Amino acid sequence: MRIFLDTANIEHIRHGVRMGVVTGVTTNPTIISREGKVDYQGLVKEICSIVSGPVSTEVLSQDAKGMIAEAREMAKWAKNVVIKIPASLEGLEATSVLAGENIKVNLTLCFTLNQAVLGTAAEAAFISPFVGRLDDIGEDGMEVVAGIVEYLDYYEMSTQVIAASIRHPQHCLMAARAGAHIATIPYEVLLDMMRHPLTDSGIQRFQDDWNKVMAK
Ligand code: G3P
Repeated sequence: MRIFLDTANIEHIRHGVRMGVVTGVTTNPTIISREGKVDYQGLVKEICSIVSGPVSTEVLSQDAKGMIAEAREMAKWAKNVVIKIPASLEGLEATSVLAGENIKVNLTLCFTLNQAVLGTAAEAAFISPFVGRLDDIGEDGMEVVAGIVEYLDYYEMSTQVIAASIRHPQHCLMAARAGAHIATIPYEVLLDMMRHPLTDSGIQRFQDDWNKVMAK
């Protein structure tokens, strides 16, 4: 499973890339707004220069015509830009037009297998089921991920599943087990995936044992 960072924070993205594990980035209007009143295009271009893989950036329009116009402009910002389009009826229409122009779409705000079925039919390159938000309302987000993966595998489709709205390391484990191609995760979750108290105490013990004898 590939790891993308779900952030627009440059320092966090640089760190993830330095670690050698982050191969893509996803953003949305909320994530961009966390960085303050920024130059949207400038920020996305900078992210695209740090990460070689896909960088998802979301449209704000709610009608197909507006989404398509925004997407066409964003697609010029960098070669690895992927356009996030919401899984609405208008979004579906925009997705098929953009796919026809070889502009990659990440169908976002996906909550059901049916939305994913239509998204792949419209030739979205990526589908992003929002796991945490489904869990929040008492549904099983990971079941939706697993269902979409099974569907894509059965028909040997090339669309990739991005497990999104990941809230904790357990979600990452479950996404990997469900066969998600990608998990897009907050920076803190990335750090938490690697942390273990036995690793920390083990490092300290090796150091102490070495020092007791060798440093004399
Ligand atoms: O990738 C989608 C993600 O940004 C949404 O996360 O935590 O707002 O549900 P959350």
